Amino acid sequence: MAHSASLLSPASPTAAQASGPLIGTIRVPGDKSISHRALMLGALAIGRTEITGLLEGEDVLATAAALNALGANAAPAEKGRRDGRWTVDGIGIGGLAEPENLLDLGNSGTSARLLLGMLASHPITAFVTGDASLRRRPMGRVVEPLSRIGARFVTREGARLPLAVSGATIPVPISYRLPVPSAQVKSAVLLAGLNTPGATTVVEPQPTRDHTERMLCHFGASVAIEPEGGGGRRVTVEGFPELAAAPIIVPGDPSSAAFPLVAALIVAGSDVTIEGVGINPLRTGLLDCLREMGADISLLNEREEGGEPVADVRARAGALAGADIPAERAPRMIDEYPILAVAAACARGRTVMRGLAELRVKESDLSGIAAGLDSCGVSVAVDGDNLIVEGDGGPPTGGAFIETRLDHRMGMAFLVLGLASRLPVRIDDATPIATSFPGFIGMMNGLGGAIAEEG
Ligand code: S3P
Repeated sequence: MAHSASLLSPASPTAAQASGPLIGTIRVPGDKSISHRALMLGALAIGRTEITGLLEGEDVLATAAALNALGANAAPAEKGRRDGRWTVDGIGIGGLAEPENLLDLGNSGTSARLLLGMLASHPITAFVTGDASLRRRPMGRVVEPLSRIGARFVTREGARLPLAVSGATIPVPISYRLPVPSAQVKSAVLLAGLNTPGATTVVEPQPTRDHTERMLCHFGASVAIEPEGGGGRRVTVEGFPELAAAPIIVPGDPSSAAFPLVAALIVAGSDVTIEGVGINPLRTGLLDCLREMGADISLLNEREEGGEPVADVRARAGALAGADIPAERAPRMIDEYPILAVAAACARGRTVMRGLAELRVKESDLSGIAAGLDSCGVSVAVDGDNLIVEGDGGPPTGGAFIETRLDHRMGMAFLVLGLASRLPVRIDDATPIATSFPGFIGMMNGLGGAIAEEG
């Protein structure tokens, strides 16, 4: 994979304080979560699914390669052209073929966990692995419910990759209550339920992103969503639906938009509009936080595309104040804490981000964010599962070299911090950014940023 090669000669860019405001109108790459699901459901549908706006980042390309190894045909609409237009020729539910070789899912936890769901109810055997970061992340959270459906797994210690999965010959429908709020686990069980007789149910005490449910409906499956006590949801799919190929428009990824958005808030005088961003309410926790901190953010031209709400998001720089971010909000913004922590470092006062236990099992480790901020002269503390950042309202010192630990979000967050800090910030390795946001550095510089690529 590109990552391991990059360890030998990492691209190690430096972000210096922008000499003027960030100004412009941009589009960010397609939503990663929706892109994975478009390829996967396209592969399980009958007919040709046409996708526009697919994220052509490494994570999604890993999903496409795995689906092709399982017998589907996912490819750019025009050979050799990377413009986000893809087609998937589906093989139908039950149609996955045994892959001849290892499925290597690179850095992508979503690819690994959702594909394991699909594999769990197909009577084939597959061997799954990933890069050094993904091989550290726990798979027990999907192995456990998928074993109840009847799949068999052999894993490394701690249910880590590489693992072998043999899908169930006669899958058993289950009703599963999520022990952690995870859209990946929910989706893995629902995808397994597609090739399982009867009704498969996932109960989520705290709602998580619902792209799988929305897209299943878009492909013609019947999905029942009922409220569950305490604000939760009960999601049920009936086995063997007829999934009919359907066109998909992938909105811009709110998790990617978060980086230029926060950059616009913290670089004085900036005014940036990001067009066509997904604003699914289960993804917009960051906007709530930033608004509570006093940010000037407006949503323009709100509309619906392909079953998902979309808007143009305009952000203008201004003073930010610290805020208390409740743990209940975490599932709606789990990937946004690194960049929220950067906003907090530029705000006046104390920001407490509560209930971040899940960050410990992601690419973005809590301790890495804290260590990076500390080296930039920001007052920061980790208290149990809470991250506390104290800013004085002025630009942070910066002047640090940041270890990003193969985490694309750490890389982007600290480059954004460097645009606002007094001294330049350098990151150790920019190559992981291509997993989710190809072209990030060029786009930031196009707005007026000063990120020098080296290495
Ligand atoms: C994702 C769910 C989240 C998120 C990840 C993408 C998805 O993970 O962090 O980047 O597409 O379902 P968890 O389900 O582990 O919270």
